[in-house]
Amino acid sequence: MSPALTIRPYSEGALSQAAAKLRAGELVAFPTETVYGLGADATNADAVAGIYAAKKRPSFNPLISHFPDRDAAAKHAVFDARADKLAAAFWPGALTLVLPRQADSDVCDLVTAGLPSIAVRVPAHPMARELLRAVGRPVAAPSANRSGKISPTTAAHVAQSLGNAIGMILDGGPCGVGLESTVIDLTTDRVVMLRPGGVTADQVSELLGTDVVMAESDDTAPKSPGMMTSHYAPGLPVRLDATTADPAKYGHEVLLGFGDCNTKGFDAVLWLSKSGDDIEAAANLFAKLHEADQSHFAGIAIAPIPDKGLGIAINDRLKRASAPRAPHDAT
Ligand code: TXA
Ligand code: MG
Repeated sequence: MSPALTIRPYSEGALSQAAAKLRAGELVAFPTETVYGLGADATNADAVAGIYAAKKRPSFNPLISHFPDRDAAAKHAVFDARADKLAAAFWPGALTLVLPRQADSDVCDLVTAGLPSIAVRVPAHPMARELLRAVGRPVAAPSANRSGKISPTTAAHVAQSLGNAIGMILDGGPCGVGLESTVIDLTTDRVVMLRPGGVTADQVSELLGTDVVMAESDDTAPKSPGMMTSHYAPGLPVRLDATTADPAKYGHEVLLGFGDCNTKGFDAVLWLSKSGDDIEAAANLFAKLHEADQSHFAGIAIAPIPDKGLGIAINDRLKRASAPRAPHDAT
C-alpha cells in the first residue's frame, strides 16, 4: 500500500476533501450501499482513463454514472414513463437504468464506450449522496477492485486491492447489499435486464406490468449478440497495426497516431497520443474514432500501440472496432 493513501471516515472535512479531489480529476474510492466504487469525474476523460489504469481492466466496458438524485441524472439521460416509474420506486437504491443519452450531456465517451446510451444510478448510501451533491458533476464509478478480483465491501478491501493506485478512500463502514446494482436497459421498447442484482426481475416486471427479458452478460465482456452489436463500431473500415500508408491498396486513410509512428503518406493524422502515453490515448480513443469516422476518408488506419498497461484495453477495443461487420460478430 502506498504511504500516500488516505483513508478517512465520515466528517465534513473528509467529504469536502474527497469532492475537491474528484473535481480536480483525481480518483476517490467511496462507499455505496452495494459495493465501494472507484470514482472519477465522468466529464473528465483523463480521470476516467485513470480508473481503467488503476483497475488494470483489459477492456473498456461502459461505466455507470452516479448522481445525487433523479433530476441531476435527467440532465444526462432521457427518462421515459417507465424510467420515471422505476426511479420513483427504487431510487435511491441498487438499480441502474440504461437510457438514451441527452444530446448535450458532457459525460465523456470513455464512460459510455462511445454509445448513444448512458447508465445512471442514484445510490442510497448517505455518504455517497452527500459526496455526489458536493461534486456537482456525474461521477463514474465501477467497483473499487482490481479487475477480476472480488468486489470490495469495506475500505480495507479497497486498500488491499487498489492501495498503491489511488490517493483516497472515504470509509463508510461495510456495505449493506454487498452485490452490484441491478442494470436495466430501457433504450428499446423491451425491458432488458443486463445484470442481476439487489432489485429483482419480478419487482421490475410487477411495477411496469411488462415482461423483463434477461440478457446474458458479465462484467468483462458482452456475450449475447444483442449486446455486442450495441457496442460502438465505426462505419469506415479499420486497419490495425498500420506501419505504412498504401493508398493503392487501402485508399486514402486517416491515421490514428501514437508515439513516434510513421505518418508518411497518410491523408491526415489524428493523434491518440503524440508522446505515446497510454492514459492520454485511452482518454482520446472514442472521440478520435468518432472524428475519423465522420470524415470523408476511405478508412481508418491505427498506428501500432504496445500491448501493455492501458494499451491492452485500447487494443481490445480496436480489435472489436475492426472486426467484420456481420450482425453476429459486429462489436
Ligand atoms: O453497484 C454498482 O452498480 C456499483 C457501485 C459502485 O455503484 N457500480 C458498478 O459500476 O458496478 P460498473 O461501471 O462496473 O457497472 C457497469 C455495468 C456493466 O454491466 C455495463 O455493461 C453496464 O453497467 N453499462 C454501463 N453503461 C452501459 C450502457 N451505456 N449500455 C449498456 N450497459 C451499460
Ligand atoms: Mg466490478
